[in-house]
Amino acid sequence: MKVNAKTKLACLIGHPVAHSFSPYIHNFLAEKYGLNLKYMCFDVEPDKVGEALNGFKALGLLGSNVTIPHKVEVMSYLDEVDKNASIIGAVNTIKNEGGRLIGYNTDGVGFVKSVLDEGHEIKGKHIMILGAGGASRAIAIELASRGAAKIIIRNNTISKAEKIAEAVTMNFKGVEAEVGTLNIKEEDLKGVDILINTTPLGMSSKKDLCPIDESIIPPRELVVCDIVYTPHDTKLIKWAESHQLAVVHGIGMLINQALQSFSIWTGIEAEAYEEVIHVLKKEGVLEE
Ligand code: ATR
Repeated sequence: MKVNAKTKLACLIGHPVAHSFSPYIHNFLAEKYGLNLKYMCFDVEPDKVGEALNGFKALGLLGSNVTIPHKVEVMSYLDEVDKNASIIGAVNTIKNEGGRLIGYNTDGVGFVKSVLDEGHEIKGKHIMILGAGGASRAIAIELASRGAAKIIIRNNTISKAEKIAEAVTMNFKGVEAEVGTLNIKEEDLKGVDILINTTPLGMSSKKDLCPIDESIIPPRELVVCDIVYTPHDTKLIKWAESHQLAVVHGIGMLINQALQSFSIWTGIEAEAYEEVIHVLKKEGVLEE
């Protein structure tokens, strides 16, 4: 659709933003659903975040995504923050509701959708998360809010794992949390239903690394998820497949977090997963 006097704007703010693939996804979705909406990226200096958000209100933007390094900083300029986003302590999506800016975090939601879409359940499950950065925290909080029974955070810096475990047990009564190092032993996986890698081990420059000792024999029903999406089949995914385990690829979280943001802005629950993959392959973001 051509830009005209009624075109609405959604955007990404971050620093830098030049390598973002979000414009491909959201401009495709806007076209697909016939919306007079465009999506653009703005590189916002850290000391200009407040001005940018006031600009959203002044110009009547539909909403925005927020990326590094502004995910925490934006929270102080919002009128309201969704409960899970507030527990996570980071916002990646903002909706402008008639001049009130409301913050959400769709990272964990996107991850959980990718697991549910593969036919797996969260409720009552014992889940081990490798890594304790922002993605780990968003995923842990979302899993706890969906009724996981136990969340085990494993990370080399134990204090970071402990902070996430604390946020889980303080906010979700009845959810157990445990921490440990990344040195996973075969017996540590006994009783674990879902294993999730949120460390960069396995991604392009570290593609020969696996966050799990590959000689470990996993439990037969373990579901193995990696949030790394390049390469598509990481060492961890290959290890899981060599033991005939169910896997969830990183691409699922990537696409579902974007679909969830689009739904927050437009109210449209886009059924466009495969089409978005096609768009990202065509643009060279994903390998064919
Ligand atoms: P994000 O916020 O995107 O989740 P991050 O904050 O960089 O990413 O977090 C990555 C996680 O992977 C961190 O928990 C980090 O461990 P530390 O807390 O000990 O720093 C972990 N990580 C990063 N590189 C790693 C490596 N080479 N080996 C093991 N863990 C690593």
